[in-house]
Amino acid sequence: MAASSTKKWWKNSIVYQIYPKSFCDSNGDGIGDIPGIISKLHYLKDLGVDVIWLSPVYQSPGYDNGYDISNYKEINPEFGTMEDMERLISRAKRMGIKIMMDLVINHTSDEHEWFQKALAGDEKYRDYYYFRDGKNGRKPNNWGSFFGGSAWTRTENGDYYLHLFSDKQPDLNWHNPDVYNEIVDVMKFWLEKGVAGFRCDAINVIYKNSLDDGKKHLFLTGKEHYLNTEGCHELLKRFNSEIWSKYKLFIVGETALVTPEIAKLLSDESRGELDSLFFFEHMDVDSRGVKWFKKKYRPNKLIRILDKWQNVLEFPSNYLENHDQIRSVNHFGNTGKYWEKSAKLLCGLNLSLRGVPFIYEGEEIGMTNGDFRGLRDIKDVESHNINQSMKKLLFVHSLRRKLILRTSRDNARTPVQWDDSENAGFTTGNPWLKINANKSFINVKTESEDENSILCFYKKMIEFRKNSSALNEGSYRRVASPSDVYIFTRESSSERLYIYCNLTGMNKPIEVYGDRIVLDNYDEEERGNNFLKPYEFRIIASNI
Ligand code: NOJ
Ligand code: CA
Repeated sequence: MAASSTKKWWKNSIVYQIYPKSFCDSNGDGIGDIPGIISKLHYLKDLGVDVIWLSPVYQSPGYDNGYDISNYKEINPEFGTMEDMERLISRAKRMGIKIMMDLVINHTSDEHEWFQKALAGDEKYRDYYYFRDGKNGRKPNNWGSFFGGSAWTRTENGDYYLHLFSDKQPDLNWHNPDVYNEIVDVMKFWLEKGVAGFRCDAINVIYKNSLDDGKKHLFLTGKEHYLNTEGCHELLKRFNSEIWSKYKLFIVGETALVTPEIAKLLSDESRGELDSLFFFEHMDVDSRGVKWFKKKYRPNKLIRILDKWQNVLEFPSNYLENHDQIRSVNHFGNTGKYWEKSAKLLCGLNLSLRGVPFIYEGEEIGMTNGDFRGLRDIKDVESHNINQSMKKLLFVHSLRRKLILRTSRDNARTPVQWDDSENAGFTTGNPWLKINANKSFINVKTESEDENSILCFYKKMIEFRKNSSALNEGSYRRVASPSDVYIFTRESSSERLYIYCNLTGMNKPIEVYGDRIVLDNYDEEERGNNFLKPYEFRIIASNI
């Protein structure tokens, strides 16, 4: 793949995602906040983080924890004030950490002034959204929402509005130039405050080609009318040429259901759209079409998927977990005997791939899925909507409970475990979501005092990556391996590394390439010569 012409700062960066509500609470109301984040900047610096991606902190009624924005230019008072936000940006900057914000522009909250004016009949603002009359007593079309159920909700006036997510998140009409101008104004507002980039929420669904009925699918009927449309590409090109390129930014797209071909169109440097994107195919490795219905996870399949994407994109945004997915040790590792080894292995894998590594809060200490007792412990709007949809399909309670508890997004949203005290050092009050009982041994304090901990392994791996030209800018090539073992090389003009990942709980024979082991999650006395131990991660450097 051709080397890029000018080196962009984000190409060597390690990004850490903060889900503010669950990160650190400074005032005892049980909800994480911006002063809490500021208090942990030294921790993040010490970890080796270059960029923080902040999930939304804008004013919001919080039905989707901030992904329902009611004012793009205000801070949610639960999270702090605008002064707190400015302080966060400037303190982080002084420490060499950049802040990326979430840009949620497919929809607003239904409590946004624009939507409220629209509901009150203001024609200007009605055209900011999609209001349509029903057809013969039915909804305007047959589209389904990402959160289950119809994508249309009836207003008190008898007409309907479109929402691809919850009914509290009406979709903006990107055919309207006023919407473009409003959002450009919002972007400039934050860029002038010193924000270094945006993670663009649901960006490849923003432009609807038509509102015609869609082909019937179990999930997302209607998607052919809005996924990756030409209009979306054009909007991204305009954002890029008119605003983004004027600042030195990192622009990452969250792109649902994206294929490698589309991903190239969206993020190829020469096209001037996104810098990088998140794909989802690896997240769905164990799902049967919809994430709630799971099949057995097969490491070989994960390897095939990662390899495919490594070959397609020069700078994908790599991640193994985020606030919408279950914890990676539950997904791809082991939460029992090999919890520690598998968490370290996943760290090594994520940070060895070509692209920009994203670490999600708590991943660096091996946090596991929530230990919820029942659906009553779950707060997520998506889980509750799906529960309703499953009820309509006559799923019994025990089945709904099982499907939702193992897949709910709340699994990754439990508060960060800072220490082993009653509320894990997250809050002095009542945490908004149940804290996992395993805080007794999975927590930052305990792990920072143990040089063999997952946390210390993260530090080592981050440090290693920072000093490695092969990992930062080298080529990628997969090497033949036994099943469920992923071996690949990363190579620059001055460094060749062989990366070994045993994605199973068994010993695996290997062909040994290279000259010296430079990193391993097993000690020298523990490891074998021609085989990998369970969940072993190894980097072997080769003399070149
Ligand atoms: C993707 C976000 O990551 C998710 O949390 C949110 O619910 C939807 N987009 C809607 O904004
Ligand atoms: Ca708080």
